[in-house]
Amino acid sequence: MTAPSVSWHRFRVKNIAILNGPNLDRLGKREPEIYGATTLAELEKQLLAEFGSVAQLEFFQSNHEGALIDKISGLADAKCDGIVFNPGAFTHYSIGLRDAVAAIRVPVVEVHLSNIHGREEFRRHSVIAAVSRGQISGFGPGSYLLGVDALLGTSPAPGGRRPAARRRP
Ligand code: DQA
Repeated sequence: MTAPSVSWHRFRVKNIAILNGPNLDRLGKREPEIYGATTLAELEKQLLAEFGSVAQLEFFQSNHEGALIDKISGLADAKCDGIVFNPGAFTHYSIGLRDAVAAIRVPVVEVHLSNIHGREEFRRHSVIAAVSRGQISGFGPGSYLLGVDALLGTSPAPGGRRPAARRRP
């Protein structure tokens, strides 16, 4: 009998982590005219409703750079298939977080609720973007839904390889 052509690993439930950086614990209360009225708990519920049957979702939020770095390193050693990461204000200056993302092979999708490219000059630059698989910015909670969707392979963004830019010296 010939071996089945189906590769079963494709059907394994994926483990996706949703990481949020500083001040995102205050979603819903914090500048709702920019970040909307949805709380972080509601956003997590939306993600579970949308993807709970096809992915194992893990949520983590911290206001501390070191805690986020520890979490990212830990996920690289765990069976994590992808990370949706909103680094908050750390997006714009944390080389420590940038290096943590660069150090792992787990694909990371950077997300933002607001369109950082249409805001103050200092928000337009992300130190995380170049080492991420991609960036989704400006769709409110939808940015996270799109991020998980990208990691699950239903949009063309992901792949099993590092992006070319990361292989350069
Ligand atoms: C943010 C954008 C950042 O500039 C800001 O510091 C945040 C939230 C966003 O989701 O739009 O905290 O990451």
